[in-house]
Amino acid sequence: MSDRLLFLGPPGAGKGTQAQLLAAERGLLHLSTGELLRAEVQAGSELGTEAQAVMARGELVSDALVLAIVKARLLSHDGGWLLDGFPRNLAQAGALRELLDELKQPIEHVVLLQLDDGILLQRLLSRGRDDDNEAVIRNRLEVYREQTAPLIAFYRQLGLIREVEAEGAVEAVASRVSAVVSQPL
Ligand code: AP5
Repeated sequence: MSDRLLFLGPPGAGKGTQAQLLAAERGLLHLSTGELLRAEVQAGSELGTEAQAVMARGELVSDALVLAIVKARLLSHDGGWLLDGFPRNLAQAGALRELLDELKQPIEHVVLLQLDDGILLQRLLSRGRDDDNEAVIRNRLEVYREQTAPLIAFYRQLGLIREVEAEGAVEAVASRVSAVVSQPL
């Protein structure tokens, strides 16, 4: 049973939905940088104020800020975890690797959720979060392609990528995810 997982995929692919289900099933810490940042915005903290405008444009918040959040959470947690929405670029992936080497907690599986742009767009438009209008969604997709998609090659080289077709009902996708993360390492 693996308990150090990372979810990767474009906005709207279902990372948050699937991560939450799997984390509950396996008793893992679900660490979503998007959720943590939105909580800071809601609380009106200095960090949230700094992140708010960047998130509203669909750009990435600074690596230093996000890394500080992730590091604090992982250092204060004893047990398995699931990272959702982090890392988001090669610099974050490099920093995460250093941290996990230090902690002697290597990633076991990187779940890559794949979905057509048309379906992503539909899902996000019907959700209607602050950053879910068409112009911002298109920007988030572009940021994903330019900055986050290179992580696929990075993790593929490490033999960690597990591709999952993210089309279909939530439960159907969840059983595909469960199957790939149950594979022997
Ligand atoms: P983040 O919160 O990570 O957003 P995202 O990557 O754009 O992902 P989404 O939440 O939109 O999609 P998801 O794949 O999680 O899908 P979900 O399950 O929600 O980041 C937001 C912002 O924060 C970023 O733009 C950036 O500014 C900042 N940020 C975050 N992390 C950062 C980092 N590491 N570095 C720098 N900046 C960072 O599902 C989407 C919708 O589809 C939901 O309504 C859901 O109910 C529905 N749905 C899910 N699965 C299905 C299904 N099978 N069938 C039908 N509907 C479904």
